[in-house]
Amino acid sequence: MQIVESILSLRGQIKTWRGEHQTIAFVPTMGNLHDGHISLVKKAQTLADKVVVSIFVNPLQFDDKQDLVNYPRTLQTDIKKLMQAGCNLLFTPNAEVMYPQGMDFHTFIHVPGMDDKLCGLERPGHFDGVATVVTKLFNMVQADVAVFGEKDYQQLLLIRKLVSDLNLPVKIVGASTVREQNGLAMSSRNQHLTDELKQQAATLYLTLSQLKQQLESGQQDYPALLKQAEIKLTAAGFSLDYIDIRRADDLQTAVPAVDKKLRLLAAGRLANVRLIDNIACNLA
Ligand code: PAF
Repeated sequence: MQIVESILSLRGQIKTWRGEHQTIAFVPTMGNLHDGHISLVKKAQTLADKVVVSIFVNPLQFDDKQDLVNYPRTLQTDIKKLMQAGCNLLFTPNAEVMYPQGMDFHTFIHVPGMDDKLCGLERPGHFDGVATVVTKLFNMVQADVAVFGEKDYQQLLLIRKLVSDLNLPVKIVGASTVREQNGLAMSSRNQHLTDELKQQAATLYLTLSQLKQQLESGQQDYPALLKQAEIKLTAAGFSLDYIDIRRADDLQTAVPAVDKKLRLLAAGRLANVRLIDNIACNLA
């Protein structure tokens, strides 16, 4: 696996591969890789000849500066995991490479219809930071396809919209959430949880799964179902940001008996660790 830090070296290798008619899949990450990330790399390998992974902890997307400081940086372990997974190139730019003139006067990408709902409300500026860095990374890597986890479902929709709106020549593929045995979605944040808290945290997935069963069995009183779900999560120790039933394609509030392709999403803090999860729910 090659490791490059500069855009020049990255583009040099991409040019060589293009000259050899190799296709390229890209997996952007912020490092601290777990099995969820590795599953994205494995998926990317099925989609193209070469796989490029980036690791960049993007300051622009951290609404909470302490979160940025605390974000785990584990480059050496990440490198080993990526080598084992068969990644071809790791791009590790630093902030000077990404934002040479600093971030304050940088052009940014704003995708409408995302910061006014769900995680957008809780994390002001976060999605602008994601959209901006992902657009930059796409322009640097120039991959044929890029893989994003469904665990960050709102982020996945945001990226699909920005690629469509800006006519970016990259195909976006979503990959299923990888879970612990108890159902807890894998996340870098799980390492801040004790074993006991990890058991409690699994309530997020269990509650979403129960909600899905209730909807699939024909229950249509969404406010009552959501209230029940909220009570369960609060009893498990969550300080809830939201739990909701949304339309899968644009995350608008779902209308009972009208919308059939749904996404059930939740976010909240457990022992001050912010966790998110979501599942699909397709009604007949
Ligand atoms: O999902 C992430 O890890 C980040 O938001 C991403 C897409 C790498 C952009 O920094």
